[in-house]
Amino acid sequence: MSHLSVHVPLDGGRAYDILIGRGLVDAVGAQAAALGAKAAGIVTDETVAALYGERIRASLEQAGLRCGIIAVPPGEASKSYACYAAVCDRLLELRIERGDLVVALGGGVVGDLAGFAAATLRRGVRFLQVPTTLLAQVDSSVGGKTGINSPHGKNLIGAFHQPRLVLADTAALDTLVEREMRAGYAEVAKYGLIADPGFFDWCEANWRGIFSGGPERDEAVAICCRAKAGVVVRDEREDGERALLNLGHTFGHALERLTHYESARLVHGEGVAIGLALAFRFSARLGLCSGQEAGRVANHLAMAGLPTRLQDVPGGSGDAESILDAMAQDKKVRDGALTFILARGIGQSFIAPGIGRDDVRAFLQDELRG
Ligand SMILES: NC(=O)c1ccc[n+]([C@@H]2O[C@H](COP(=O)([O-])OP(=O)(O)OC[C@H]3O[C@@H](n4cnc5c(N)ncnc54)[C@H](O)[C@@H]3O)[C@@H](O)[C@H]2O)c1
Repeated sequence: MSHLSVHVPLDGGRAYDILIGRGLVDAVGAQAAALGAKAAGIVTDETVAALYGERIRASLEQAGLRCGIIAVPPGEASKSYACYAAVCDRLLELRIERGDLVVALGGGVVGDLAGFAAATLRRGVRFLQVPTTLLAQVDSSVGGKTGINSPHGKNLIGAFHQPRLVLADTAALDTLVEREMRAGYAEVAKYGLIADPGFFDWCEANWRGIFSGGPERDEAVAICCRAKAGVVVRDEREDGERALLNLGHTFGHALERLTHYESARLVHGEGVAIGLALAFRFSARLGLCSGQEAGRVANHLAMAGLPTRLQDVPGGSGDAESILDAMAQDKKVRDGALTFILARGIGQSFIAPGIGRDDVRAFLQDELRG
């Protein structure tokens, strides 16, 4: 089985590899056995369990591990206190010990939930990420951020807990619905926009191959993971540079909040796509980058089928004031001033603290007048 590999060289014995390629789901057992685990608790959602659960179970059992599957309902609502408690209790029933493994099989929801359960169960159990959405393969499975939502907001309860290994089976994306593929693609394009203009050019030329499952898909996942790994190694706990990965997310999270995390209206990557387009148009308005570049960003996202305007949110996004209030709930707010990730051009993003509410309000009002 040929695959690509990206190393995440964290210190303190926490370095790990990300393996990327078609068919890696069947390698989970051998990899888990090589780590010396005797048992594995597979945490997944019901949709992914039906597609890949038994293959992973067979792979683990063939490698001599005892295992059990814990399937939560699909969707953001499973990143809850109730699901977290149920998953932990089931892992304890399965007698998962510190030398064993939690296997997070699914998208970012399962990765965050299972990762947080692994971080806290017995004060920390090792875990494997087996991401099955494009978003999870290029973003959420790498870097060790785990957590659940509180009624006060998204990802407010969590821990940093790095996986022991990431197995990104790019063939698993063949069963993903087109909308989720597109949503993940927003995060792919994001890496070009943050710091790699050459990769954005490459995306414009090759995005169709990522969607259709050509070799471009594996290549794109590897490029994104390499970029993310670099940032994480330099700034694991987001004291600085890691915040750049939030390009588009301050707007995006606000829109997710205003649509009550209802995936029928907006999924995370769609919020990010609108947020990326807004971040570039806001940058252009502040005179930081050209309107032409902001237009190029929005055109590419729209070409890939992604929303790019507040008016694209089904049912509406709310007025400027409610978007501002929703942004103020974000973790990236200090003393009322907002921190944005803005850009001086494609691939030239930077952290811009202290952006005043009035500037943002005026911009949003103009966008809504659109
Ligand atoms: N920890 C991080 O660093 C980080 C980074 C970005 C996003 N996130 C989190 O990730 C979550 C979003 O993740 P997501 O977009 O992967 O959503 P998701 O986990 O909800 O998956 C999307 C949908 O796709 C289905 N699915 C998954 N894999 C499939 C497959 N191979 N075939 C068919 N269907 C499949 C799922 O059942 C679900 O319905 C959010 O909660 C977000 O906060 C975390």
